[in-house]
Order: sequence, then C-alpha cells, then structure tokens
Amino acid sequence: MAYKNILSASSANITTITINRPSKLNALNQATIAELHKAFKKADNDKKTKVIIITGSGEKAFVAGADIGEFADYSVVQGEKLAAEGQAKLFDFVAHLSTPVIAAINGFALGGGLELAMAAHFRIASDNAKMGLPEVSLGVIPGYGGTQRLPQLVGKGRAMELIMTAGMIDANQALQYGLVNHVTTTEELLPLAEKLASKISKNSTMAIAAAIEAVNAGFEAGENGFEAEITQFGKCFGTADFQEGTQAFLQKRKANFPGK
Ligand code: COA
Repeated sequence: MAYKNILSASSANITTITINRPSKLNALNQATIAELHKAFKKADNDKKTKVIIITGSGEKAFVAGADIGEFADYSVVQGEKLAAEGQAKLFDFVAHLSTPVIAAINGFALGGGLELAMAAHFRIASDNAKMGLPEVSLGVIPGYGGTQRLPQLVGKGRAMELIMTAGMIDANQALQYGLVNHVTTTEELLPLAEKLASKISKNSTMAIAAAIEAVNAGFEAGENGFEAEITQFGKCFGTADFQEGTQAFLQKRKANFPGK
C-alpha cells in the first residue's frame, strides 16, 4: 500500500511504522492520522507481525503535535469531533490493538505526539527526546487522551504540573517519571526497540493479547481489571499456544508457539 505521510516496513516479525513529514516535524494532520489507522490495522491483521514499532523520521522529532494549522479556525462542534474521531481512529485504536506497540521516541514528542506515544503499550526514548503536552499554551487542552493517559503513567500531580505549565521534560526526567522505560542514544534507539520486539515475539501472541486486554481493563471506567484478568486467564487454557507452552516446558524444549 502506498502512503504519502508515513512509511511501513516489515521484517523478522516486526512492522515499523514511521511518520514521515520531517519538514513539519511529523505533525499529525488528518491525512496522516487516516494513514496511521490503515497501517496499524494492516499490521495487526498480519499474522507474521508480532510487534509494531512506531517512530518518527528525521533526527529532530517523533511528532511535534497535532497539525495546528488544520484546526486553528475550528468551532466548538468541530473541535469535539476532531478529538472524538482522532481517539477512535488512532489513539484508542492503538491502545487496544492485540499486537504489542512500542513507541521509539526519537526527538520532540509534544501534544498529539506524546499522546500517540502514550497510547502505545510502552515507550523508549533517545537521549535528545523532549516530551510535553503544551496545548494550554494554545488555549486548548490535550484532546487525544492526554489528560487521562499522562496521569495514569506518571501520577496526577506530575501530570497536572506538565499540562498546566505547558512545559517539556527531557528523556532522563521521563525515565525518572516512568513515562519511558529506557533511554539510549539516537543511533541505538531502533536497535533497542527491535531487541525488545524480538524478545516479545518469542512468546505466545495469544497470551500477550490477553495480557494487553487485562491490563487495559484496569484503566477503563466501568470495567473490573481483576474480573477481566480471570476471564482472559481462563481463555488462555483454550489456546494451542497454551498446549505448546506447557508441553514444551515439561519436555524441556523451547516452545514454538502456533499463535492460535
Ligand atoms: N503543527 C503544525 N506545524 C508544525 C507543528 C505542529 N504541531 N510543529 C512544528 N510545525 C512546523 C513549523 O510550523 C515549521 O514549519 P515551516 O518550516 O513551514 O514554518 C516546521 O514544523 C519546523 O518547526 P519549527 O518551529 O521551525 O522548529 P523549531 O526547532 O524552531 O521548534 C518546536 C520546534 C517543536 C519547539 C516547535 O515547532 C513547536 O513548538 N511546535 C508546536 C508544538 C505544539 O504546540 N504542539 C501541540 C499541538 S496541539
């Protein structure tokens, strides 16, 4: 599939999606969001893809936010629609994929950029990365899940401060906050993401999908995470992956998961 604003490449069970508008610091316009939706959906449906990596092209930015030029003259109704559609098409969509998504933050991750990274299942960053939700400096608030996911990841007080000051934190502070799991050099960022992806891809895709669902359930209103865990735990017993995983252990050999 030919994309205009993103690149998607697959090898060795990993699909890497790269937002590719470096002259606009990879800002998320509507066309890019639509292409990302398609690319994530395709990768999630692809049996060979066991992990998805999302990153930005160029050395400066992961994503410098939603495209400000596109919404500058929006009305109240249009603003609400922008957030609702964006959350459904991309941010919630990514968070609920059954294929694990790693965000490799290679520079500025601001506004919608940080929101996209936070929708991923976990994040790593290069040492030049800068993260923040600067929306209040534009007279608006984060609308792609940032007011919910940032406090979930770093705690309410830190999230409030970051949002209210419209400030940026560097990679090491993000590591200290637990917003990213690892910090490395720019050159080592994708190799590290691939190393983690390769580790993940050796495990049962069925069990990983069940784990994503159970973990997510604990953060969703009206859902009981412990009940979701019981249901997902039980479901695993009906999978061929479970048969293979337990038999391989008992037979003292490496498991070769069929992924069903
Ligand atoms: N939306 C639209 N265009 C954006 C953008 C965004 N969120 N972020 C950057 N760009 C564009 C700039 O307009 C500029 O385009 P131009 O060359 O056609 O004028 C280009 O990307 C390069 O950005 P520039 O501002 O010149 O780079 P910089 O190194 O001086 O500053 C930032 C980098 C990230 C500090 C600055 O671009 C910025 O503050 N961006 C907006 C961040 C933001 O508020 N995001 C939240 C949006 S809700």
